[in-house]
Amino acid sequence: MNNESMNTKDTSVWKHHHVLDVDDFSVAEIELVMQTTDAMKEVLSRPIKKVPTLRGKTVVTLFYEASTRTRGSFEVAAKNLSADVVNMTAQSSSISKGESLIDTLNTIEAIGADVIVMRHPLSGAHYCAAPHVKANIINAGDGWHAHPTQALLDLYTIIKHKDKADGLKVVIVGDIKHSRVAHSNIWCLTKMGAKVVLCGPHTLLSTGLEDAGEYFPQVEAETNIEYALKDADVVMELRLQKERMQSGLLPGLREFIGGYQLNRERLALAKPDAIVMHPGPVNEDIEMTADVLHGGRSVVGEQVANGVAVRMAILYLLAGSKEL
Ligand code: CP
Repeated sequence: MNNESMNTKDTSVWKHHHVLDVDDFSVAEIELVMQTTDAMKEVLSRPIKKVPTLRGKTVVTLFYEASTRTRGSFEVAAKNLSADVVNMTAQSSSISKGESLIDTLNTIEAIGADVIVMRHPLSGAHYCAAPHVKANIINAGDGWHAHPTQALLDLYTIIKHKDKADGLKVVIVGDIKHSRVAHSNIWCLTKMGAKVVLCGPHTLLSTGLEDAGEYFPQVEAETNIEYALKDADVVMELRLQKERMQSGLLPGLREFIGGYQLNRERLALAKPDAIVMHPGPVNEDIEMTADVLHGGRSVVGEQVANGVAVRMAILYLLAGSKEL
């Protein structure tokens, strides 16, 4: 990334102070994120993967839930942009002594945070928090609701393989109901012109989504995986979220595997060049067989790698110095 490559992008389309979900992103903003991610990929290809755009800024990661990919890639992204990074978890902070969410955020801001990257188990926690802080808030996952940077890195990965999302058939399989990844992907992919087919047992499709097509024509729900996969361009399996599941939503893992696991035979129903995605972490041999996960059609590792560049792009657009 040099002065010329960044300064030629029209960042005036960017309107966000916080990133809470992608449902309120314009197409132009999503396109800007994709272009900025390309510039960040160029930075990451250099021997020294560091630019000064966030020098003097402090990024705090505040995670009330476990994470490997999101927390780790935000830390690497912020450090690549020369920010100072402070990592906090609920277990290791005064949250464990009963400090409230708003008091915690005000305390973090008083310490000097410019950007707060937060994951919280309650859907909507970030919307509650945002009016109380001046720092930029980035939603790194809230309950079942949203995971906007995951959707953006998924879109980026799809575009790198398929050129564009417009006109693609993307099949999202598994535990749709509990998946913030699915919910953000529905907004992001349909906004960019893809058709999204949600596939899972009735009990794991979000309430209302079974009839989604009636009022949201680019979204379909299908309980039969063999029908759903036909002519798919992209197959995205989701993690079975055992920790969020109330008893009774599935008879058992064996039934889920029998009905919804992606294996070689089922993948053959998709287009020959279909790619296989998963946001991770994967329950190997539950959502998909090991040979599919580690096979030539899988882009799961690329998704993780692209997460660093997408998060660099988001940090840059929210808080970066525009003159490099
Ligand atoms: N995809 C995702 O959010 O993974 P982590 O829980 O490891 O951050």
